[in-house]
Amino acid sequence: MSSAIQPTLTKRLLDTLLEARVAHALYAATKFGFADLLASEPKTSTELAQLSNTHAPSVFRLLRALASSGIFVELDDGRFANTPLSELLRADGPGSMRNNVLFLHHDIMTLAWTKLPATVETGKPSFDLYYGEELWQHLMKNPEVGAVFNAGMTSLSTMYANAVVNAYDFADIGTICDVGGGRGILLGTILAKYPQLRGILFDQPQVVDSVGEGHDWAPVKDRCQVVGGNFFESVPQADAYVMKSVLHDWSDEDAVRILKTVHQAAKPGQKLLLVESVVEPGNGPDDGKVLDLFMMVMTNGGRERTEKEFATILNAGGFELLRVIRTGSNKSIIESRRR
Ligand SMILES: C[S@@+](CC[C@H](N)C(=O)[O-])C[C@H]1O[C@@H](n2cnc3c(N)ncnc32)[C@H](O)[C@@H]1O
Repeated sequence: MSSAIQPTLTKRLLDTLLEARVAHALYAATKFGFADLLASEPKTSTELAQLSNTHAPSVFRLLRALASSGIFVELDDGRFANTPLSELLRADGPGSMRNNVLFLHHDIMTLAWTKLPATVETGKPSFDLYYGEELWQHLMKNPEVGAVFNAGMTSLSTMYANAVVNAYDFADIGTICDVGGGRGILLGTILAKYPQLRGILFDQPQVVDSVGEGHDWAPVKDRCQVVGGNFFESVPQADAYVMKSVLHDWSDEDAVRILKTVHQAAKPGQKLLLVESVVEPGNGPDDGKVLDLFMMVMTNGGRERTEKEFATILNAGGFELLRVIRTGSNKSIIESRRR
């Protein structure tokens, strides 16, 4: 290796490690609500520390480090103020990312990631290796962590739901069934945009019991049937189906079982839209590949897939992949048709 390029390459590796530390700082600043405390006017680290019951010199160093990444800004008079990036950490701001940050960097995530080398060695999920139980089991036993998880998922789902309705035309559909639709964020967003459309929200009974939690369900409630069940057994009949962030939770074998159940309910020619990350070929930057690591760390058998892998499981489940539509977020719409 030439000595001329070595310092640049070394710096790139070090920068990657340092960015991981910035993520920790982002989490800490979000946890103490500094962006909300700065909403009305800039403040010194001492004022912020008093308001948040924290240690002023450490608050100063935390915010100064974040300001070097454009998250908060240190003013000439030594006070800190919000920037467009830190504004997104406010609890009530438009497009708030607060719950995403608190979820994506919560201990249940970061501690599980420390077991990644053991996962690479054994193929077992890091989460299970760290906590001695599966993610879903752990969330059930620890409702306070479950609440952080649900709030984070709700926030992410809202972001993706908007991207999906802006990228796909649902106008020709009569009734659409959202399979594994959670608390109805995607379906609610689609129905809100298409007043003639009717919906069926299908998920596990204990999940659909809390339909509407975390979003405004009332405007679409009358056009939507809510059905509890098990997608390994049967799903309701509809004119079209959507399934968001469901198949990535499952191994290929289980994903095909779910697709076969949808196939049983659907009629030939009907559409099934999967909303998932699509892993890109090549070596370019790709969120999908990092999200795939998330699945490897957190779940037992879950994975992100390439277009070819989607085509294969869809085909095995009785569907033909028609096209992949990018949504401008890291989720794409994989449009398929029942054979
Ligand atoms: C990752 S979440 C995605 C939720 C929603 N589609 C979204 O994107 O926000 C996966 C969903 O699958 C549901 N699910 C898991 N197993 C199921 C089953 N056997 N039958 C029906 N739904 C199931 C879960 O309850 C959960 O709501």
